Amino acid sequence: MDLLSFSFLFSLLFANTIAFDPCDSSTSKLDGSDLSVIHVYGKCSPFSAPKPASSWVNTVLNMASKDPERVSYLSSLVAQKPTKVPIASGQQVLNVGNYIVRVKIGTPGQLMFMVLDTSNDNAWVPCSGCTGCSSTVFTPNTSSTYGEMECSVPECTQVRGLSCPETGTSTCFFNQSYGGDSSFSATLSRDSLGLAADVIPNYAFGCINAVSGKAIPPQGLLGLGRGPTSLLSQTGSLYSGVFSYCLPSFKSYYFSGSLKLGPLGQPKNIKTTPLLKNPRRPSLYYVNLTGVSVGRVKVPITPELLAFDPTTGSGTIIDSGTVMTRFVPPVYEAIRDEFRKQVKGPFSSLGAFDTCFTATNEDVTPAVTFRFEGMDLVLPLENSLIHSSSGSLACLAMGAMPVNSVLNVVANLQQQNLRVMFDVPNSRLGIARELCN
Ligand SMILES: *[C@@H]1O[C@H](CO)[C@@H](O)[C@H](O)[C@H]1NC(C)=O
Ligand SMILES: *[C@@H]1O[C@H](CO)[C@@H](O)[C@H](O)[C@H]1NC(C)=O
Ligand SMILES: *[C@@H]1O[C@H](CO)[C@@H](O)[C@H](O)[C@H]1NC(C)=O
Repeated sequence: MDLLSFSFLFSLLFANTIAFDPCDSSTSKLDGSDLSVIHVYGKCSPFSAPKPASSWVNTVLNMASKDPERVSYLSSLVAQKPTKVPIASGQQVLNVGNYIVRVKIGTPGQLMFMVLDTSNDNAWVPCSGCTGCSSTVFTPNTSSTYGEMECSVPECTQVRGLSCPETGTSTCFFNQSYGGDSSFSATLSRDSLGLAADVIPNYAFGCINAVSGKAIPPQGLLGLGRGPTSLLSQTGSLYSGVFSYCLPSFKSYYFSGSLKLGPLGQPKNIKTTPLLKNPRRPSLYYVNLTGVSVGRVKVPITPELLAFDPTTGSGTIIDSGTVMTRFVPPVYEAIRDEFRKQVKGPFSSLGAFDTCFTATNEDVTPAVTFRFEGMDLVLPLENSLIHSSSGSLACLAMGAMPVNSVLNVVANLQQQNLRVMFDVPNSRLGIARELCN
Protein backbone atom coordinates (compact mmCIF):
# COMPACT_ATOMS: atom_id res chain seq x y z
CA MET A 1 0.00 0.00 0.00
CA ASP A 2 1.16 3.45 -0.81
CA LEU A 3 1.69 5.72 2.17
CA LEU A 4 0.24 9.09 2.86
CA SER A 5 3.23 11.21 3.51
CA PHE A 6 4.07 14.75 4.30
CA SER A 7 7.65 14.04 5.21
CA PHE A 8 9.08 16.57 2.82
CA LEU A 9 6.96 19.30 4.32
CA PHE A 10 7.87 18.19 7.80
CA SER A 11 11.53 18.48 7.17
CA LEU A 12 10.99 21.97 5.81
CA LEU A 13 8.97 22.94 8.84
CA PHE A 14 11.55 21.45 11.13
CA ALA A 15 14.36 23.33 9.46
CA ASN A 16 12.49 26.56 10.06
CA THR A 17 11.65 26.02 13.68
CA ILE A 18 14.74 24.72 15.44
CA ALA A 19 15.42 28.15 16.83
CA PHE A 20 12.36 28.11 19.04
CA ASP A 21 10.62 25.31 20.79
CA PRO A 22 6.96 25.33 19.83
CA CYS A 23 6.23 22.89 22.63
CA ASP A 24 7.44 25.17 25.37
CA SER A 25 4.20 26.57 26.71
CA SER A 26 5.99 29.43 28.44
CA THR A 27 6.87 30.91 25.06
CA SER A 28 3.31 30.54 23.88
CA LYS A 29 1.43 33.59 22.71
CA LEU A 30 -1.66 32.15 24.25
CA ASP A 31 -2.88 33.38 27.58
CA GLY A 32 -6.10 34.15 29.40
CA SER A 33 -8.55 31.47 28.41
CA ASP A 34 -6.62 30.31 25.35
CA LEU A 35 -5.03 26.88 25.31
CA SER A 36 -2.83 25.21 22.78
CA VAL A 37 -4.42 22.30 20.98
CA ILE A 38 -1.92 19.70 19.84
CA HIS A 39 -2.04 16.45 17.95
CA VAL A 40 -2.03 13.59 20.40
CA TYR A 41 0.92 11.99 18.58
CA GLY A 42 2.51 15.23 17.39
CA LYS A 43 5.87 16.63 18.44
CA CYS A 44 4.56 18.52 21.46
CA SER A 45 2.69 15.57 22.91
CA PRO A 46 4.20 13.22 25.50
CA PHE A 47 2.32 10.30 23.99
CA SER A 48 3.91 8.14 21.39
CA ALA A 49 1.98 6.65 18.54
CA PRO A 50 0.92 3.04 18.93
CA LYS A 51 3.14 0.57 17.12
CA PRO A 52 3.55 -0.05 14.29
CA ALA A 53 3.89 3.52 13.13
CA SER A 54 7.17 4.21 11.43
CA SER A 55 6.26 7.75 10.50
CA TRP A 56 3.88 10.58 11.24
CA VAL A 57 2.14 9.71 8.05
CA ASN A 58 1.45 6.18 9.13
CA THR A 59 0.20 7.55 12.40
CA VAL A 60 -2.32 9.74 10.61
CA LEU A 61 -3.35 6.77 8.49
CA ASN A 62 -3.75 4.59 11.56
CA MET A 63 -5.86 7.26 13.18
CA ALA A 64 -8.11 7.41 10.12
CA SER A 65 -8.38 3.65 10.16
CA LYS A 66 -9.77 3.80 13.73
CA ASP A 67 -12.63 6.04 12.62
CA PRO A 68 -15.07 3.17 12.08
CA GLU A 69 -14.86 2.37 15.80
CA ARG A 70 -15.66 5.90 16.74
CA VAL A 71 -18.44 6.42 14.25
CA SER A 72 -20.03 3.12 15.24
CA TYR A 73 -19.81 4.28 18.80
CA LEU A 74 -21.40 7.64 17.95
CA SER A 75 -24.09 5.84 15.97
CA SER A 76 -24.81 3.51 18.85
CA LEU A 77 -25.21 6.51 21.12
CA VAL A 78 -27.83 8.14 18.97
CA ALA A 79 -29.77 4.91 18.71
CA GLN A 80 -30.01 4.59 22.47
CA LYS A 81 -32.99 5.44 24.60
CA PRO A 82 -32.44 8.43 26.85
CA THR A 83 -29.97 7.46 29.52
CA LYS A 84 -28.28 9.09 32.42
CA VAL A 85 -25.17 10.83 31.32
CA PRO A 86 -22.03 9.11 32.50
CA ILE A 87 -19.25 11.22 33.92
CA ALA A 88 -16.55 8.80 33.06
CA SER A 89 -17.25 6.59 30.13
CA GLY A 90 -15.84 7.32 26.72
CA GLN A 91 -13.11 4.76 26.33
CA GLN A 92 -14.25 3.89 22.87
CA VAL A 93 -13.84 7.51 22.01
CA LEU A 94 -10.35 7.71 23.41
CA ASN A 95 -9.02 5.26 20.90
CA VAL A 96 -9.21 8.05 18.42
CA GLY A 97 -8.68 11.09 20.58
CA ASN A 98 -6.85 13.21 18.08
CA TYR A 99 -6.20 16.44 19.91
CA ILE A 100 -5.05 17.12 23.40
CA VAL A 101 -4.78 20.17 25.61
CA ARG A 102 -2.50 20.83 28.57
CA VAL A 103 -4.37 21.34 31.79
CA LYS A 104 -3.45 21.48 35.46
CA ILE A 105 -5.33 19.56 38.06
CA GLY A 106 -5.07 20.07 41.81
CA THR A 107 -3.27 22.50 44.09
CA PRO A 108 -0.46 22.94 43.31
CA GLY A 109 -1.45 22.15 39.72
CA GLN A 110 -0.25 18.89 38.17
CA LEU A 111 0.28 19.00 34.44
CA MET A 112 -1.98 16.59 32.55
CA PHE A 113 -2.73 16.18 28.88
CA MET A 114 -6.38 15.64 28.19
CA VAL A 115 -8.12 14.59 25.02
CA LEU A 116 -10.50 17.18 23.63
CA ASP A 117 -13.81 15.61 22.76
CA THR A 118 -16.79 17.65 21.65
CA SER A 119 -19.06 14.61 21.51
CA ASN A 120 -18.57 13.70 25.14
CA ASP A 121 -19.51 15.31 28.44
CA ASN A 122 -17.21 13.27 30.59
CA ALA A 123 -13.97 14.13 32.27
CA TRP A 124 -11.58 11.64 33.75
CA VAL A 125 -7.92 11.17 34.47
CA PRO A 126 -5.81 8.17 35.40
CA CYS A 127 -4.89 8.48 39.09
CA SER A 128 -1.95 7.34 41.20
CA GLY A 129 -2.05 3.81 42.39
CA CYS A 130 -4.07 2.91 39.32
CA THR A 131 -3.69 -0.70 38.32
CA GLY A 132 -3.18 -1.03 34.61
CA CYS A 133 -2.87 2.68 33.74
CA SER A 134 0.20 3.82 31.89
CA SER A 135 2.27 7.01 31.80
CA THR A 136 1.23 10.22 33.49
CA VAL A 137 -1.14 9.91 36.39
CA PHE A 138 -2.68 12.48 38.66
CA THR A 139 -1.62 12.14 42.31
CA PRO A 140 -4.60 13.15 44.45
CA ASN A 141 -2.85 12.96 47.78
CA THR A 142 -0.46 15.77 46.92
CA SER A 143 -3.29 18.12 46.09
CA SER A 144 -4.69 20.20 48.94
CA THR A 145 -7.96 20.78 47.10
CA TYR A 146 -8.77 17.20 46.10
CA GLY A 147 -11.90 15.55 47.40
CA GLU A 148 -13.84 12.39 46.75
CA MET A 149 -17.56 12.67 46.22
CA GLU A 150 -20.10 10.73 48.18
CA CYS A 151 -22.87 8.54 46.91
CA SER A 152 -25.41 11.03 48.17
CA VAL A 153 -24.41 13.92 45.87
CA PRO A 154 -26.57 14.51 42.79
CA GLU A 155 -23.56 14.14 40.46
CA CYS A 156 -23.11 10.57 41.62
CA THR A 157 -26.57 9.60 40.43
CA GLN A 158 -25.58 10.65 36.92
CA VAL A 159 -22.80 8.12 36.77
CA ARG A 160 -23.29 4.83 34.99
CA GLY A 161 -22.02 1.57 36.50
CA LEU A 162 -22.42 2.64 40.08
CA SER A 163 -21.46 0.60 43.12
CA CYS A 164 -23.01 2.59 45.93
CA PRO A 165 -24.62 0.88 48.91
CA GLU A 166 -28.37 1.21 49.37
CA THR A 167 -27.96 3.05 52.64
CA GLY A 168 -25.32 4.94 54.58
CA THR A 169 -22.58 7.17 53.28
CA SER A 170 -19.95 5.95 50.96
CA THR A 171 -17.57 7.20 48.29
CA CYS A 172 -19.01 7.32 44.78
CA PHE A 173 -17.18 4.49 43.00
CA PHE A 174 -18.12 3.21 39.63
CA ASN A 175 -17.02 0.48 37.28
CA GLN A 176 -17.80 0.64 33.60
CA SER A 177 -17.24 -1.94 30.95
CA TYR A 178 -15.46 -1.15 27.77
CA GLY A 179 -15.60 -3.06 24.53
CA GLY A 180 -15.99 -6.79 24.93
CA ASP A 181 -13.60 -7.57 27.74
CA SER A 182 -12.28 -4.38 29.25
CA SER A 183 -13.44 -2.26 32.13
CA PHE A 184 -12.27 0.46 34.43
CA SER A 185 -13.18 1.60 37.89
CA ALA A 186 -13.01 5.16 39.16
CA THR A 187 -13.84 7.42 42.04
CA LEU A 188 -16.00 10.43 41.37
CA SER A 189 -13.82 13.30 42.53
CA ARG A 190 -13.51 17.05 42.68
CA ASP A 191 -10.50 19.26 42.33
CA SER A 192 -9.31 22.51 40.81
CA LEU A 193 -8.95 22.41 37.07
CA GLY A 194 -6.49 24.89 35.57
CA LEU A 195 -7.10 25.88 31.97
CA ALA A 196 -4.53 28.41 30.78
CA ALA A 197 -4.85 31.25 33.32
CA ASP A 198 -8.26 30.17 34.61
CA VAL A 199 -8.83 27.94 37.58
CA ILE A 200 -12.15 26.14 37.96
CA PRO A 201 -12.63 25.09 41.56
CA ASN A 202 -14.37 21.85 42.50
CA TYR A 203 -14.40 20.44 39.01
CA ALA A 204 -16.07 17.01 38.97
CA PHE A 205 -14.25 14.21 37.19
CA GLY A 206 -13.57 10.50 37.40
CA CYS A 207 -10.30 9.48 39.03
CA ILE A 208 -9.43 6.13 37.48
CA ASN A 209 -8.25 3.50 39.98
CA ALA A 210 -8.02 0.43 37.81
CA VAL A 211 -8.32 -0.68 34.25
CA SER A 212 -8.53 -4.24 33.13
CA GLY A 213 -8.52 -5.84 29.73
CA LYS A 214 -6.98 -4.29 26.64
CA ALA A 215 -4.81 -1.25 27.27
CA ILE A 216 -6.87 1.86 27.72
CA PRO A 217 -5.12 4.90 26.26
CA PRO A 218 -3.28 6.91 28.87
CA GLN A 219 -4.75 10.34 28.33
CA GLY A 220 -7.38 11.96 30.42
CA LEU A 221 -10.56 13.08 28.74
CA LEU A 222 -11.97 16.59 28.69
CA GLY A 223 -15.53 16.48 27.42
CA LEU A 224 -16.65 19.64 25.65
CA GLY A 225 -20.10 18.33 24.87
CA ARG A 226 -23.18 20.34 25.72
CA GLY A 227 -24.73 17.94 28.23
CA PRO A 228 -25.30 18.43 31.95
CA THR A 229 -21.94 17.26 33.30
CA SER A 230 -19.56 18.73 30.73
CA LEU A 231 -16.99 21.45 31.17
CA LEU A 232 -19.43 24.02 29.78
CA SER A 233 -22.09 23.10 32.30
CA GLN A 234 -19.65 23.00 35.18
CA THR A 235 -18.20 26.41 34.36
CA GLY A 236 -21.51 28.16 33.57
CA SER A 237 -20.83 31.82 34.24
CA LEU A 238 -17.09 31.68 33.60
CA TYR A 239 -17.32 30.76 29.92
CA SER A 240 -21.02 31.43 29.33
CA GLY A 241 -21.32 28.24 27.30
CA VAL A 242 -19.07 29.53 24.51
CA PHE A 243 -15.83 28.13 23.15
CA SER A 244 -14.04 27.78 19.86
CA TYR A 245 -11.16 25.81 18.49
CA CYS A 246 -8.87 26.03 15.54
CA LEU A 247 -7.42 22.64 14.66
CA PRO A 248 -3.92 22.66 13.23
CA SER A 249 -3.32 21.17 9.83
CA PHE A 250 -2.72 17.44 9.68
CA LYS A 251 0.58 18.27 8.04
CA SER A 252 1.77 20.25 11.02
CA TYR A 253 3.42 17.69 13.21
CA TYR A 254 5.22 20.50 15.02
CA PHE A 255 2.50 23.03 15.51
CA SER A 256 -0.51 23.59 17.62
CA GLY A 257 -3.90 25.16 17.24
CA SER A 258 -5.91 26.78 19.97
CA LEU A 259 -8.92 26.37 22.18
CA LYS A 260 -10.55 29.62 23.28
CA LEU A 261 -12.92 29.36 26.18
CA GLY A 262 -15.57 32.01 26.81
CA PRO A 263 -17.12 34.74 24.68
CA LEU A 264 -14.15 37.12 24.87
CA GLY A 265 -11.87 37.15 21.87
CA GLN A 266 -14.19 35.16 19.65
CA PRO A 267 -14.43 36.31 16.04
CA LYS A 268 -17.07 39.00 15.63
CA ASN A 269 -17.75 38.51 11.97
CA ILE A 270 -18.38 34.87 11.68
CA LYS A 271 -20.99 33.05 9.65
CA THR A 272 -23.21 30.87 11.76
CA THR A 273 -25.69 28.05 11.49
CA PRO A 274 -28.19 26.99 14.15
CA LEU A 275 -27.19 24.23 16.56
CA LEU A 276 -29.91 21.63 16.95
CA LYS A 277 -30.65 19.92 20.22
CA ASN A 278 -31.29 16.22 20.53
CA PRO A 279 -32.69 15.45 23.99
CA ARG A 280 -31.86 11.79 23.45
CA ARG A 281 -28.22 12.58 23.03
CA PRO A 282 -27.67 15.85 24.88
CA SER A 283 -23.91 16.03 24.43
CA LEU A 284 -23.78 15.99 20.62
CA TYR A 285 -23.57 19.14 18.51
CA TYR A 286 -26.08 18.63 15.74
CA VAL A 287 -26.23 21.06 12.83
CA ASN A 288 -28.61 21.34 9.90
CA LEU A 289 -26.70 20.19 6.83
CA THR A 290 -29.12 20.80 3.97
CA GLY A 291 -26.96 19.86 1.00
CA VAL A 292 -23.54 19.33 -0.51
CA SER A 293 -22.19 20.82 -3.72
CA VAL A 294 -19.30 19.61 -5.81
CA GLY A 295 -18.06 22.47 -7.91
CA ARG A 296 -21.21 24.17 -9.18
CA VAL A 297 -23.29 21.04 -9.03
CA LYS A 298 -25.71 20.52 -6.20
CA VAL A 299 -25.41 16.82 -5.44
CA PRO A 300 -28.82 15.14 -5.68
CA ILE A 301 -29.51 13.93 -2.15
CA THR A 302 -32.85 12.77 -0.79
CA PRO A 303 -33.59 15.36 1.93
CA GLU A 304 -34.64 12.64 4.41
CA LEU A 305 -31.05 11.33 4.41
CA LEU A 306 -29.83 14.62 5.88
CA ALA A 307 -32.84 15.50 7.99
CA PHE A 308 -32.50 15.92 11.73
CA ASP A 309 -34.72 13.54 13.66
CA PRO A 310 -34.23 13.36 17.43
CA THR A 311 -36.19 10.11 17.59
CA THR A 312 -33.93 8.12 15.31
CA GLY A 313 -30.84 10.25 16.00
CA SER A 314 -30.42 10.99 12.31
CA GLY A 315 -28.82 14.20 11.13
CA THR A 316 -25.33 15.69 11.10
CA ILE A 317 -22.93 16.39 13.96
CA ILE A 318 -19.70 18.36 14.19
CA ASP A 319 -17.11 16.25 15.97
CA SER A 320 -13.53 16.80 17.11
CA GLY A 321 -12.68 13.12 17.51
CA THR A 322 -13.30 11.59 14.08
CA VAL A 323 -10.59 11.98 11.45
CA MET A 324 -12.46 11.99 8.14
CA THR A 325 -15.96 13.26 7.41
CA ARG A 326 -18.39 10.46 6.83
CA PHE A 327 -21.87 10.43 5.41
CA VAL A 328 -24.54 7.75 5.43
CA PRO A 329 -23.71 5.47 2.49
CA PRO A 330 -26.20 6.76 -0.13
CA VAL A 331 -25.16 10.36 0.56
CA TYR A 332 -21.46 9.59 0.36
CA GLU A 333 -21.95 7.62 -2.85
CA ALA A 334 -23.81 10.52 -4.45
CA ILE A 335 -21.08 13.00 -3.48
CA ARG A 336 -18.33 10.66 -4.63
CA ASP A 337 -20.04 9.93 -7.95
CA GLU A 338 -20.43 13.63 -8.70
CA PHE A 339 -16.81 14.25 -7.69
CA ARG A 340 -15.61 11.43 -9.97
CA LYS A 341 -17.64 12.87 -12.82
CA GLN A 342 -15.77 16.15 -12.55
CA VAL A 343 -12.25 14.82 -11.94
CA LYS A 344 -10.24 12.88 -14.45
CA GLY A 345 -9.74 9.20 -13.50
CA PRO A 346 -8.76 6.45 -13.34
CA PHE A 347 -9.61 6.12 -9.64
CA SER A 348 -7.99 3.87 -7.10
CA SER A 349 -8.18 3.29 -3.34
CA LEU A 350 -5.72 4.11 -0.61
CA GLY A 351 -6.44 2.93 2.92
CA ALA A 352 -9.82 4.27 3.93
CA PHE A 353 -10.05 6.49 0.85
CA ASP A 354 -11.79 5.16 -2.25
CA THR A 355 -11.43 8.03 -4.70
CA CYS A 356 -7.76 8.61 -5.44
CA PHE A 357 -6.52 10.03 -8.71
CA THR A 358 -3.36 11.39 -10.31
CA ALA A 359 -2.38 14.48 -8.36
CA THR A 360 -1.54 16.35 -11.54
CA ASN A 361 -5.29 16.58 -12.12
CA GLU A 362 -5.63 18.45 -8.89
CA ASP A 363 -5.75 21.94 -10.40
CA VAL A 364 -9.09 21.04 -11.92
CA THR A 365 -10.47 19.52 -8.74
CA PRO A 366 -13.85 21.02 -7.85
CA ALA A 367 -14.35 22.57 -4.43
CA VAL A 368 -16.67 20.71 -2.11
CA THR A 369 -19.20 22.90 -0.31
CA PHE A 370 -21.16 21.87 2.77
CA ARG A 371 -24.43 23.77 2.79
CA PHE A 372 -25.58 24.33 6.33
CA GLU A 373 -28.72 26.25 7.12
CA GLY A 374 -27.66 29.90 6.79
CA MET A 375 -23.98 29.11 6.13
CA ASP A 376 -22.07 27.64 3.21
CA LEU A 377 -18.68 26.14 4.00
CA VAL A 378 -16.54 25.99 0.88
CA LEU A 379 -13.77 23.58 1.81
CA PRO A 380 -10.25 24.70 1.02
CA LEU A 381 -8.57 22.08 -1.18
CA GLU A 382 -6.37 21.07 1.75
CA ASN A 383 -9.51 20.10 3.64
CA SER A 384 -11.03 17.96 0.93
CA LEU A 385 -7.97 16.12 -0.40
CA ILE A 386 -5.23 14.02 1.17
CA HIS A 387 -2.04 13.04 -0.67
CA SER A 388 0.03 9.91 -0.95
CA SER A 389 3.65 9.86 0.21
CA SER A 390 5.07 10.14 -3.25
CA GLY A 391 2.72 13.03 -3.90
CA SER A 392 1.55 11.26 -7.02
CA LEU A 393 -1.95 10.56 -5.76
CA ALA A 394 -4.63 12.80 -4.31
CA CYS A 395 -7.67 11.32 -2.60
CA LEU A 396 -11.07 12.65 -1.69
CA ALA A 397 -10.71 12.72 2.10
CA MET A 398 -14.22 11.60 3.01
CA GLY A 399 -16.02 8.32 3.31
CA ALA A 400 -19.17 6.40 4.15
CA MET A 401 -20.58 5.64 7.58
CA PRO A 402 -21.27 2.01 8.42
CA VAL A 403 -24.34 0.53 6.73
CA ASN A 404 -27.58 1.26 8.65
CA SER A 405 -26.07 4.29 10.32
CA VAL A 406 -28.28 7.37 10.26
CA LEU A 407 -25.67 9.89 11.37
CA ASN A 408 -23.38 12.11 9.28
CA VAL A 409 -20.18 13.32 10.97
CA VAL A 410 -18.22 16.42 9.98
CA ALA A 411 -14.70 15.56 11.15
CA ASN A 412 -11.17 16.88 11.68
CA LEU A 413 -9.70 16.73 8.21
CA GLN A 414 -12.45 19.04 7.04
CA GLN A 415 -11.99 21.42 9.98
CA GLN A 416 -8.28 22.20 9.60
CA ASN A 417 -7.39 25.86 9.70
CA LEU A 418 -10.90 26.95 10.48
CA ARG A 419 -12.10 28.57 13.67
CA VAL A 420 -15.12 26.61 14.79
CA MET A 421 -17.15 28.40 17.43
CA PHE A 422 -19.73 26.72 19.64
CA ASP A 423 -22.20 29.16 21.15
CA VAL A 424 -24.60 27.07 23.17
CA PRO A 425 -26.77 29.80 24.80
CA ASN A 426 -27.47 31.29 21.38
CA SER A 427 -27.74 27.85 19.78
CA ARG A 428 -25.36 28.56 16.97
CA LEU A 429 -22.18 27.23 15.47
CA GLY A 430 -19.86 29.60 13.64
CA ILE A 431 -17.07 28.87 11.18
CA ALA A 432 -14.43 31.29 9.91
CA ARG A 433 -11.18 30.80 7.98
CA GLU A 434 -8.10 31.14 10.17
CA LEU A 435 -4.53 29.96 9.98
CA CYS A 436 -4.35 27.96 13.19
CA ASN A 437 -0.73 27.00 13.37
C1 LIG B 1 0.37 9.20 48.10
O1 LIG B 1 -0.11 8.02 47.48
C2 LIG B 1 0.91 7.17 47.03
C3 LIG B 1 0.30 6.02 46.27
O2 LIG B 1 -1.05 6.13 46.19
C4 LIG B 1 1.75 6.70 48.21
O3 LIG B 1 2.79 5.88 47.75
C5 LIG B 1 2.29 7.89 48.95
O4 LIG B 1 2.97 7.46 50.10
C6 LIG B 1 1.21 8.85 49.32
N1 LIG B 1 1.79 10.08 49.83
C7 LIG B 1 1.29 10.69 50.90
C8 LIG B 1 1.97 11.97 51.27
O5 LIG B 1 0.34 10.29 51.51
C1 LIG C 1 -15.36 -4.17 37.11
O1 LIG C 1 -16.32 -5.10 37.56
C2 LIG C 1 -16.20 -6.38 36.95
C3 LIG C 1 -17.38 -7.23 37.42
O2 LIG C 1 -17.53 -7.15 38.81
C4 LIG C 1 -14.87 -7.02 37.30
O3 LIG C 1 -14.72 -8.25 36.70
C5 LIG C 1 -13.77 -6.07 36.79
O4 LIG C 1 -12.51 -6.57 37.15
C6 LIG C 1 -13.96 -4.69 37.36
N1 LIG C 1 -12.98 -3.83 36.71
C7 LIG C 1 -12.09 -3.12 37.36
C8 LIG C 1 -11.12 -2.34 36.54
O5 LIG C 1 -12.03 -3.10 38.58
C1 LIG D 1 -33.06 22.72 8.17
O1 LIG D 1 -33.04 23.71 7.18
C2 LIG D 1 -34.09 23.59 6.24
C3 LIG D 1 -33.85 24.63 5.15
O2 LIG D 1 -33.69 25.89 5.69
C4 LIG D 1 -35.42 23.77 6.95
O3 LIG D 1 -36.47 23.60 6.03
C5 LIG D 1 -35.53 22.73 8.06
O4 LIG D 1 -36.72 22.95 8.79
C6 LIG D 1 -34.35 22.81 8.98
N1 LIG D 1 -34.41 21.71 9.92
C7 LIG D 1 -34.39 21.91 11.23
C8 LIG D 1 -34.49 20.69 12.07
O5 LIG D 1 -34.30 23.01 11.75
